[in-house]
Amino acid sequence: MPDYARVYARQEYLTPGAAETVDIIAETVQPTERSLLLDVACGKGEAAATLAGRFACRIAAVELYDPFIHHSAAKAWFFNLRDLITILRGSGRRLPVRDGVFDAGYCIGGPSIVGLKDCLRELSRVTKRGGHIIVSDIVWRTKPGTLSEDEWKWLARMEPASLDEYAGVIEASGLRVDRRHMHERGAWDDYWRPMLEVAEEAMTSQPADIGFADDIESAVALERRAVESYINYATFVATKA
Ligand SMILES: C[S@@+](CC[C@H](N)C(=O)[O-])C[C@H]1O[C@@H](n2cnc3c(N)ncnc32)[C@H](O)[C@@H]1O
Repeated sequence: MPDYARVYARQEYLTPGAAETVDIIAETVQPTERSLLLDVACGKGEAAATLAGRFACRIAAVELYDPFIHHSAAKAWFFNLRDLITILRGSGRRLPVRDGVFDAGYCIGGPSIVGLKDCLRELSRVTKRGGHIIVSDIVWRTKPGTLSEDEWKWLARMEPASLDEYAGVIEASGLRVDRRHMHERGAWDDYWRPMLEVAEEAMTSQPADIGFADDIESAVALERRAVESYINYATFVATKA
């Protein structure tokens, strides 16, 4: 497994367009100090800290990867948000929570990593009726035939869902899709820039870590080709019927 904490050392959001998605969550949910939100696959806890800091809402943030759990907990402590943010170590495929307890739920950049159908089913299950669910993910602009795994790695293993097909999977989870937002291409560049800085530092540090720098640069190059040929990033806003 790559050292994600090191790869993402220079960024707090781990997803293209994440800050914009957080703005969409804020304007859709309009949380108050009485709101309880769920953040599935919270990464470094930046969305939870931003929303709790701005609205004083309570947030349960679920993550599986220990370095990000520790980072999120330290961030909540640093920003004096420990009373508002609870970090849970668990899987978004099976949440350790009762049905219908959250006013809203979101998963930024995670459903297809967590497991698309399981993640949506769980978000739907634990959210109150009428509550909003917001997710962002990769959607396919053009669907190729079979992609070679040698050339396209993780992309070749992905189930290629177009914007409409992705919305269909959300609706099949008992949710009504209210809005779809396609992120600008620049969101990818903003996402890659700090990673490429980490690669540059690894290349020029003493001793240089050429292998690590190469791994980052080739991962970014693969994503760049994928964006040019096949994929976009989208945010969906849905309501639990
Ligand atoms: C692309 S990152 C998104 C993180 C964060 N939401 C953001 O946008 O900054 C995906 C996250 O999903 C987490 N993850 C992967 N599988 C998971 C699972 N089954 N349950 C919870 N989190 C998971 C990873 O550890 C990683 O932090």
